[in-house]
Amino acid sequence: MKSGRKESSSQEERFWKVRSQKYNNLKWVKDNSYLNSFVSAGNFKKTDLVLDVGTGTGIVAHAIAPIVKEVIGLDKSQDMLEHSNWQGNKYFIKRDIRVPTFYEGVFDKITARMVFHHILENTQKAMNECYRILKKGGKMILSEGVPPVPGVRQDYVKIFRLKEKRLTFLEDDLTRMMKKGGFKKITLHTHMMRNFSVRDWLNNSGLPKSRQKKIYDMHVNGSDVFRKAYNMKITKDDCLIDVKNVILVGEK
Ligand SMILES: C[S@@+](CC[C@H](N)C(=O)[O-])C[C@H]1O[C@@H](n2cnc3c(N)ncnc32)[C@H](O)[C@@H]1O
Repeated sequence: MKSGRKESSSQEERFWKVRSQKYNNLKWVKDNSYLNSFVSAGNFKKTDLVLDVGTGTGIVAHAIAPIVKEVIGLDKSQDMLEHSNWQGNKYFIKRDIRVPTFYEGVFDKITARMVFHHILENTQKAMNECYRILKKGGKMILSEGVPPVPGVRQDYVKIFRLKEKRLTFLEDDLTRMMKKGGFKKITLHTHMMRNFSVRDWLNNSGLPKSRQKKIYDMHVNGSDVFRKAYNMKITKDDCLIDVKNVILVGEK
């Protein structure tokens, strides 16, 4: 696991303020195939009390609400939470997962999609906290994007360095972090998002146009190895890549 630079909370708040404006327009965020894979990994029951960590605009919370008893979406960014929809059996709370908020053994399931790479400091503490507040036999469902092959990890790091401060995980890092947190029976499966639009991702990133252009160019001008690893297709006005996301489930 490689750390980016240190986070500063005001910088981080600004980052999510800008990003929240267009977050719900991002194609990958609502991509049904990815969302369905994530939800089905949770094997949710109508009796489940679920915590969706780093809920953002509540996409995962909304997807699971109809099939569980209650879901609480937790996020440290007020701006992201303001784009969620507070009704029915969904509740949202502004908190940092690293700060203990709930009693031990409260939740049946915890979900965290595309959150942990944003937790630059005390990442393991966040994982340990998820473990602590789960019931015995409860499950954590986690998803992260990873480089498609370890050989392009450096290109991946360079590209994302221009986009945000973040961690880069490989599959083993995630499994190790879950194990260290106490989770057992960890399973991992891969979900490929085919023909992911780099243009859409950048247009809705909140990044200045000049930065978007740099990142776009780094894709299309990448090495043969990089382009092959991403199964890159260049169209008239876009660059399409296959993005690798992993979904891990661990039990307390
Ligand atoms: C990429 S968004 C993912 C949102 C949502 N899970 C989804 O799949 O659309 C990451 C979210 O994690 C939140 N986040 C990052 N660090 C956090 C922390 N330590 N505690 C709670 N939320 C955090 C951010 O504020 C942001 O809303």
